[in-house]
Amino acid sequence: FFAKPWVFVRGVPALKFLPPEGPPEIAFAGRSNVGKSSLINALLGQKGLARTSNTPGRTQELNFFVPDGYGAVEAGLPPIVLVDMPGYGYAKAPKDHVDAWTALVFDYLRGRTSLKRVFLLIDARHGIKPNDEEVMTLLDKAAMSYQIVLTKTDKIKPPAVDRLVAETLERTKKRPAAFPSLIATSSEKGGGIDDLRTVILSLAE
Ligand code: GTP
Ligand code: MG
Repeated sequence: FFAKPWVFVRGVPALKFLPPEGPPEIAFAGRSNVGKSSLINALLGQKGLARTSNTPGRTQELNFFVPDGYGAVEAGLPPIVLVDMPGYGYAKAPKDHVDAWTALVFDYLRGRTSLKRVFLLIDARHGIKPNDEEVMTLLDKAAMSYQIVLTKTDKIKPPAVDRLVAETLERTKKRPAAFPSLIATSSEKGGGIDDLRTVILSLAE
């Protein structure tokens, strides 16, 4: 279904607007500006499907995407749903906005039964930050399976990517819900995108 177009079906600004639990969901989580929306566009080969921006805080709702044909209720349930999330850790936005996005992200990650995997995106230039650790701890406590995805690897040299991969695996190996392997990606150059698709296909119904 990666050959077909995908469509945006719903933006969820608060937990009470979530669709009922249903088909498997995969969420893209991470600090603001890490490249969540860009990665979804690269995966689906559709520039501009998920809105991206140079300015952190672009995505402000949980945005749900499904393969085309499943956008209508009468078409039945999609085999998989991708969820673009607001970023966390963006200090410059108004505090009440940040609090609302963070609550939405944390509550969804903690309590959503349909959520089968979280891709936790880490900027290859910055590595794991304290707020990423906080999210990992939350996911560990919720026993919610997550996999680290390094983003923007085109911005650092290949040996630095190798070092970061080793260091990141070392830092996450004792975490109970962390997946034992990670995926290094570049939405710009296409690196790692096929590996990510393989994981998504394996979780589809
Ligand atoms: P928020 O929605 O604000 O939390 O951000 P986001 O995580 O969705 O990031 P977004 O996809 O909007 O990308 C942020 C910026 O990083 C944009 O200017 C992108 O063009 C850039 N970017 C994303 N992925 C890559 C990548 O793989 N390589 C490079 N060089 N730039 C990237
Ligand atoms: Mg975004």
